Amino acid sequence: MNVHPLPSVDVIVTDRQSVADDILLLTLAAAGGGDLPEWSPGAHLDLMLPNGVERQYSLCSDPADRGSWQVAVLRESGGRGGSEFVHATLAIGETLRARGPLNHFAFEAASSYVFVAGGIGITPLLPMIREAARAGAPWTLAYAGRSEGSMAFVKELVGEHAEHVSVYTSEAGERLALDDLFAAAPAGAQVYCCGPARLLDAATARSTELGWPAGRLRLERFEAKSTGAPVLSDAFEVELEYSGLTLTVPPERSILDVVEEAGVLVLSSCREGTCGTCETPVVSGEVDHRDSVLTPEEQADNEVMMICVSRAASAKLVLEL
Ligand code: FES
Repeated sequence: MNVHPLPSVDVIVTDRQSVADDILLLTLAAAGGGDLPEWSPGAHLDLMLPNGVERQYSLCSDPADRGSWQVAVLRESGGRGGSEFVHATLAIGETLRARGPLNHFAFEAASSYVFVAGGIGITPLLPMIREAARAGAPWTLAYAGRSEGSMAFVKELVGEHAEHVSVYTSEAGERLALDDLFAAAPAGAQVYCCGPARLLDAATARSTELGWPAGRLRLERFEAKSTGAPVLSDAFEVELEYSGLTLTVPPERSILDVVEEAGVLVLSSCREGTCGTCETPVVSGEVDHRDSVLTPEEQADNEVMMICVSRAASAKLVLEL
């Protein structure tokens, strides 16, 4: 039994529009009509596509609109086939199962905001930007991409908020200078950053250099970060408190695989530590956190773990499963 079942809902594709090179904006409504589940800025959905692939997409519409959801889908060559299917095949009128919304990138009240987006990383930031603008809080957005044509929503953002938005395109040889941007961030500003791994790694390094307090920089990773070798190179034991099972996890397998094989149902989606769906409460034992979802502080708390990638740092873990 999964201890944190997520709601799921059948949704129908009501619109699909190209909003940039290789980026499609999908509009979804409840298949049975009525309101969709509530969500907050930073949340994402798991979409279960008709080709059997499950993918996570950040909601980029307005949480106040309960009648529809919007997600922007970048066509990724060499991906797992989700974005290719959406671009090539998914038609208006098709029904999909959506799980969530789930939010590991929550928007917190602050005196001001600095948003940093790389490419499709703009999507979870859009609802946050609307929220900040609505609240009248000072905010800036630094948005980097290959070219303006490849950057979703760039025209709208610049058109509506020119004084808040700086755009950097590699095509024009422009570079987003995180060092200067972060050094100039107002005291008390909350910083939200989403984009490719190298941008997020640079943001993390710069915030450490500046000695920022925990939680000031919040990241959303679409790609798993590299984590190096596990703490333990040997097998370890996992005791499942509710199921009464004790299982051995060999070095080459994940806890999730071993638990599923034992017949215990755990919700999962990305299986690479980026979506948060397999979050599992930890009763005891030390965790080797290898996910890209939890903040360093949440990892240090040792209260939950992503069992698709995280492992044990002690001989035994006890989990609420
Ligand atoms: S299944 Fe996505 S974090 Fe584990």
